[in-house]
Amino acid sequence: MRIILLGAPGAGKGTQAGFLTKKYNIPQISTGDMLRAAIKAGTQMGKMAKAAMDAGQLVTDDIIIGLVKDRIAESDCKNGYLLDGFPRTIAQADAVTDAGIVIDAVIEIDVDDSEIVKRMSGRRAHLASGRTYHLVYNPPKVEGKDDITGEDLVQRDDDKEEVVLDRLKVYHEQTEPLIGYYKEQASKDESLKYITVDGTADIKDVEASIVSQLG
Ligand code: AP5
Repeated sequence: MRIILLGAPGAGKGTQAGFLTKKYNIPQISTGDMLRAAIKAGTQMGKMAKAAMDAGQLVTDDIIIGLVKDRIAESDCKNGYLLDGFPRTIAQADAVTDAGIVIDAVIEIDVDDSEIVKRMSGRRAHLASGRTYHLVYNPPKVEGKDDITGEDLVQRDDDKEEVVLDRLKVYHEQTEPLIGYYKEQASKDESLKYITVDGTADIKDVEASIVSQLG
């Protein structure tokens, strides 16, 4: 099973990825988490990515495509994977197609901009694992602590309102065109499922809708 999760920043891709990777027993490949890990480790790539991420802009296609190609060549990806936050540009999607990678499902999580801005202010993250929570909609068991490790949760720097607005602008300009791109591919190729879910429903209802449509 090779799945792509599409959606605006904060649409709930990471949240649903947590459920789907367990259900289908495939690894989650989150380019955002990989970049944050590179920044934390102080690598050259992390240094190059940081300025773009802090400004809500995209990291260059070359860096991202190389990162994902290396990751999916690892042994745990041989039975499939879930791509969370990739592809995010037409050039990245073309790289997937050109590499001969067969995608089984594209899942679009649809949430409007005003809801996204509200959500981001309440998001808290465990940076080491990429697990996310929400102060109201998905609180951790113990306030301010990750459920699994008990470590501190933080607010991501790019969740501040002014950066969120820039990220949404970038999403509409560069990532939203992928909706048409993959709908067209799915109309020509029966083996590719294109699924749209209402991401404003309850977290559990969003999961149930994805699972029932995936079959
Ligand atoms: P990345 O980390 O991928 O961020 P993103 O796509 O902007 O997505 P988020 O992680 O912010 O949101 P999400 O959709 O996963 O939502 P979540 O589940 O947490 O990327 C960060 C940066 O890295 C980019 O800006 C870019 O610079 C760079 N980058 C990454 N990939 C790249 C690429 N391919 N190319 C170039 N640059 C790249 O949910 C959000 C909140 O809502 C949480 O608090 C959650 O608990 C809550 N929530 C979730 N679902 C619901 C629901 N149904 N109801 C109520 N609350 C909900």
